[in-house]
Amino acid sequence: MSTLRSSRWLEGETEVAVTSRVALRSAGIDVRSKEQRPVIGIANTASDLNPCNLPLGALAEAVRKGVLAAGGLPVVFPAMSLGEDLMKPTAMLYRNLLAMEIEEMIRSNPVDGIVLLANCDKTVPGMIMGAASADIPTLVVTGGARPPAVFKGRRIGTGTDLWRVWDQRRTGQLSDEEWGAFEEALSCGVGACNTMGTASTMAILCEVLGLSLPGSSTIPSGDLRAREMAERAGETVVKMVQTSVRPSLLLTRDAFSNAAKVLSGIGGSTNAVIHLMAIAGRTQAGVTLSDLGRWFKSIPVIVDVEPTGTGLVQDLDIAGGVPAVVKALAPYLELSARSAGGESLGGVAEAAVKLGDTVREPRAPIVASDGLAVLYGSLAPDGAVMRLSTSSPALFEHTGPAVVFDDYQDMLDTIDDPALGITPDSILILRGCGPVGGPAMPEWGMIPIPGYLVRKGVTDMVRVSDARMSGTSFGTVVLHVAPESAIGGALAMVASGDRVRLSVNEGRIDLLVGEEELAQRRAHWRAPAFADRRGWPALYREHVTQAPLGCDFDFLRAPADGAPGFVEPMVGRS
Ligand code: FES
Repeated sequence: MSTLRSSRWLEGETEVAVTSRVALRSAGIDVRSKEQRPVIGIANTASDLNPCNLPLGALAEAVRKGVLAAGGLPVVFPAMSLGEDLMKPTAMLYRNLLAMEIEEMIRSNPVDGIVLLANCDKTVPGMIMGAASADIPTLVVTGGARPPAVFKGRRIGTGTDLWRVWDQRRTGQLSDEEWGAFEEALSCGVGACNTMGTASTMAILCEVLGLSLPGSSTIPSGDLRAREMAERAGETVVKMVQTSVRPSLLLTRDAFSNAAKVLSGIGGSTNAVIHLMAIAGRTQAGVTLSDLGRWFKSIPVIVDVEPTGTGLVQDLDIAGGVPAVVKALAPYLELSARSAGGESLGGVAEAAVKLGDTVREPRAPIVASDGLAVLYGSLAPDGAVMRLSTSSPALFEHTGPAVVFDDYQDMLDTIDDPALGITPDSILILRGCGPVGGPAMPEWGMIPIPGYLVRKGVTDMVRVSDARMSGTSFGTVVLHVAPESAIGGALAMVASGDRVRLSVNEGRIDLLVGEEELAQRRAHWRAPAFADRRGWPALYREHVTQAPLGCDFDFLRAPADGAPGFVEPMVGRS
């Protein structure tokens, strides 16, 4: 075994070594002066403020058991829990803070490897980003999807059905009693959203990136197999320390291309595009947004899970989970990439058993279009993202008049006002929701269709914004427009009545306004002033990058010259 990182704290007879050993012994960790046992951090984001992550408490104990069985020393510590439902304006505002917390907890403590216990949307990428920068052996253990709810005798998925039922409620088609019963039904247990939202998507991508054990990410919360997997993760990370398997070995260009292709093939969340770019930005893999766009092409959705399909994550698990997806998509993937179990992704595909119809073959997909697309054009010179699999093909080629909302509140206040003259052909534009403007791109991109159009049977319209949308959402929605409006992107220059053209075939979103007129508008444009000028929001706005760079902070991205960005601390008296 190579010299352990923790030995700088724990070996020898200096007062620093004695103090360090005493600190761990006081916590019940059996550390001796002459022994080299890997210290494994177990970062736990279980929290009462985040029911999606509550299953992680029990899994932490299983990981601890696995680490001990493999001869390591487990140290469990809390990490901030980013709960999608309660944190406002959006948990995304704190993803980079969690990433910094993980990186700094690793940097400042004697840990040789780490297990990241995550589940809800932002906890997974935030923790990976920090660990990727620290580059110590890392595994992710996710907490699984919550049980399905049942409403009016039908099994319903988290998020996706809420948006549908809310449309019924706001247009007067659902009584108070029914609305109350729906709320009761949704309170059905702990764990992540059980549709193909951001949490499920990111958990699945962890497997594909080689950061969590094959077959682990779709196991439902509370399932006994989750504990067994967590125990195996504890054992595995000790071996990863012994063989020096670090994120830099796993997070290669091939691994990212596999993740992008699987993202398209599962009809995954558009949020994952931002998170993949942020994680890639912590590495030397050299991945760009246009790379992701290229990798999405010709990968249709083969997984029948909401919102693209009709099933839930539990069905995907029964069908063979991620190994079955990898098997079906094998012709498109770089199969020599390494999985967290140590074997190649090709090995995972070979061993996979695919059952039933939830995972299809690419020649008989759930929808014929690619799962996702990256668009460019005069409205989004640096890029925008769309989930094709939940959009309407009839709107893929569409030109219409813009109806512009300057911010989210403006949209909420006026969307149902017939005076705006919105027709099914209109293109709804929402701005002021980007990384700086939001801040942190709240999931406001699925702009509601005006109630009077819903009542006439209109179910979809083209909507464009610099916001994100929930992975559980759907519709012909162009998101993450960059540069965003708050820094003077083209989105800031659109006026109601302008013609906007969407062409999925050409991969473009364009504002059909002459350059002279745009120059005049630009000359009159003024940057917005923000009320919150102190603390985290101020720091966030100063350093956040745009969506194509993953909204990471400029000072946290890997140095472009390949120099190690992570510097070990001086280990002396505190
Ligand atoms: Fe936490 Fe969906 S709200 S996983």
